Order: sequence, then structure tokens, then C-alpha cells
Amino acid sequence: MLILAAIAASCGDSADSAGPGDSADSAEPGDPADSAGRGGTTPWPLTAFPPLPEVMKDVPEARIELGNLLFYDAILSIDRETSCSTCHSERWGLSDALRRGVGQGAGLRAGPGRQGPNTVRRNSSTLFNLAFRETLLLDGGAQTLEEQALIPLFADDELGLDSETVVSELSAIPEYVDMFAEAFPDNPEVSIDNVAAALAAYQRTFLSMNASYDKYAEGRPQVLTEDMTEGMFRFAEMGCNDCHAPPLFESETFANRNVPEVEGVVDHGREEVTKLPEDRGKFRAVTLRNIAFTEPYFHNGTVDSLADAVRHELEQGDEPFTDEDVRLITVFIGKALRDESNDAIRPASLPSGLPLSIDDPGQ
Ligand code: HEC
Ligand code: HEC
Repeated sequence: MLILAAIAASCGDSADSAGPGDSADSAEPGDPADSAGRGGTTPWPLTAFPPLPEVMKDVPEARIELGNLLFYDAILSIDRETSCSTCHSERWGLSDALRRGVGQGAGLRAGPGRQGPNTVRRNSSTLFNLAFRETLLLDGGAQTLEEQALIPLFADDELGLDSETVVSELSAIPEYVDMFAEAFPDNPEVSIDNVAAALAAYQRTFLSMNASYDKYAEGRPQVLTEDMTEGMFRFAEMGCNDCHAPPLFESETFANRNVPEVEGVVDHGREEVTKLPEDRGKFRAVTLRNIAFTEPYFHNGTVDSLADAVRHELEQGDEPFTDEDVRLITVFIGKALRDESNDAIRPASLPSGLPLSIDDPGQ
């Protein structure tokens, strides 16, 4: 299990550790940024990543491995065919390529063709850089990953279980019993709190901090092409960084971006948490890192392509823009903000013996 080593690499000076197979795409040496006369500068003052949270210190490797298995194991679903990875797959940037997530009762198939009785209200979020977050969910309705993990587990339209069933199912599998003991040496039991803690520990490893943009910011201007650099400057000129603030390209800002509604779906966003009428229709300013493969976009998945999402966002501002602005900003987000080196890792098999989801691109 290389997860911890990979995190160490992504936080340190690890020049060429872009995701396997992606380096040619995300960091092709094109015309160096210098040729744009900007000498490797950024349109904003450079700020460091926030420190990783204390809870990540001294986490036993076994807890992360357990979280990895639970994340993929359909033993955590009422139909024994659905898992966290059904809606958060490494195949689609830790999302699912659907407008809105489809929960239990829809078979093993994940991805664009998945259909079933339980379509949820919202687009499945990517799960990168959650370790840094103050609040979770598109409306800010959860505080910790431990708390959040139990929401889909118990929701009827997602995994549909209850605490007792989870504990009794897992306790019946000796391999899991041993793993819980190793993962929680101070409290070696199969409990719902330990299930949540293992899932949370695993999800905190999904860090994305070593994209081409980060290497550029560290002083290597040649890793961004002229288009990417130009896209970054236009992103700033259009004020995108006010809400999608570097270096994480997200913030705790909640805003109404006039995303088209879906008929029959009632979603008041942030108002549902704060109860303030002025928060109606406001959603989190989500991360723009690693969203090249998470289409469709926005809280209800109503916009299909990244270029159309960028165009929609430009339309919300006051600055006039051109098709070329859309193209360049899309190149910047889609290529310069990618680092999938700490992605979820699909296990070869599961302690429950249940099959993994079938991630079908549908072509
Ligand atoms: C049916 C599909 C589905 C399943 C199954 C599912 N999720 Fe999600 N997940 C979603 C959707 C949709 C959202 C956005 C919900 C919102 O913001 O209200 C989300 C949001 C999240 C978030 C918050 C991300 C953020 O940016 O704030 C986390 C963390 C998360 N899921 C983890 C999990 C875990 C862990 C499991 C398994 C126990 C799981 N999910 C199972 C669909 C799913
Ligand atoms: C006032 C804050 C704000 C500004 C300024 C802003 N955004 Fe956003 N952005 C948001 C919010 C909030 C969302 C989520 C809205 C929703 O889903 O309803 C979002 C969503 C997005 C998405 C979709 C991401 C996904 O995974 O679904 C993209 C792409 C995006 N913004 C790009 C941009 C670009 C490019 C600019 C500059 C033209 C910009 N944004 C300016 C707040 C902002």
C-alpha cells in the first residue's frame, strides 16, 4: 500500500510525479510561459496550502487500508451491489458521470448508463482535497468526514442500511474483524464509529496538490504551455479566483450561480442549512482541481461539458468575454489543475467476496 508514500511525495519537492499516463497531457512542454512575457509569474500573490489537519497525524496504515476496502465494498449497502465507489469512482474523477447520483436498487453497473429507482437530488461530488475543508456538502451541511460518511450509508436512496446491520454484517467476516482490530488498536471493535473513522481516514488521502500549476508556482515556468498560462491570467481577469481561490481553487463561499433547475427537484441549497431566505439557491464554490473527468457539472449536473460550465460562469460576471476566453480558461482548468496521483485505488477483491461495481463508460 503506497498511499502514505504518495502523499509525502505530493507535499514535498517531487518534481516529476504527475499521475501515471497523465503527464504528457497535463504537462507537455510547449511554448514556455516566458514567451508570453510573464516570466513565470502568477496573476495573484502566491499562498501556501493550508497545513494538513492534526487528525491525519499518526493514523495507522491499517486504518487507511480498511477505509479503502469499505469504500469499495457493497457489503455497506442494502442490495449488496452498491458502494461509495458506485457514485465516487476513480474512473470519473471520484464522481460518476451522471447528472445526479443513482443509489441502491440499480445493479452493479456504475457510470453513464446507470438507472434505477433511487435518483438523488444532487450531482455526485468529487472527493479531492477534503482534508482541508471546514464544511462539507454543497450546502455546507456537514462538518467532519466522520459525520458525513454515515449520511449516504443510512440514506434510503443511497446505501440504505442502519447501524446494527452494518455492524452485524461486518462482524460476520473474520478478515474484517481482524482488520478493525489492527486499524483501531486503542478501541479494537467493529463499531459504526470505527466504520466512519476508517472511511474518513481513507478519504483524507485524496490529496491533489501537485498539478502543473503547482510546479509552475514553485518556479518551473516551462510546465505550463502558453495557452495554459494565458488561461490562468484570463481566469484572474474575470474574477474567477475570488471564489475559486488558489491554491485549492475553491472556498467556503456560497453563491447562487443561476444554474438551470431540474423540473420536479426542489433544492434550496444553503438556505436548507442556515434557514435564511437570502441563502436560497446558494451552493459551495467547489474545487476546480481534477474536474476534467467529472462532467456533467454544477450541483444538479445540468451542464454537460467543462467548456459550457466555464461559459456559464463567465455569463454570471460583468466582464465581456469571447469564445477564446472560454477556450483558454477551459484549458487552464482542464489541464493545469490536474493531479490524480493520490486517487482512490480499486482493490482486486473484497473481504465480503462481493463483486466490485462495473464501471461502464457506456460506449
Ligand atoms: C447514490 C450515490 C452516492 C453514494 C452511494 C455515495 N455518495 Fe457521496 N455524494 C453523493 C452526492 C450526490 C453528493 C453531493 C451531496 C450534497 O452535497 O448534498 C455526495 C457528497 C459526498 C461528500 C461530500 C463532498 C464535498 O465536497 O463536500 C463526501 C465526503 C462523500 N459523498 C462521501 C461518500 C462516502 C464515504 C460514501 C459511502 C459511504 C458515499 N459518499 C456514497 C453521492 C453518493
Ligand atoms: C461568486 C463566486 C464565484 C465566482 C466569481 C465564480 N464562481 Fe464558479 N462556482 C461558484 C459556485 C457557487 C459554483 C457551484 C454552483 C452550483 O453548482 O450551483 C461554481 C461552479 C463552477 C464550476 C462547475 C464545477 C463543478 O465541478 O461542477 C466551474 C467550472 C466554475 N465554477 C468555473 C468558474 C469560472 C471559470 C469563473 C470565472 C469566470 C467562476 N467560476 C467564477 C462560485 C463562483
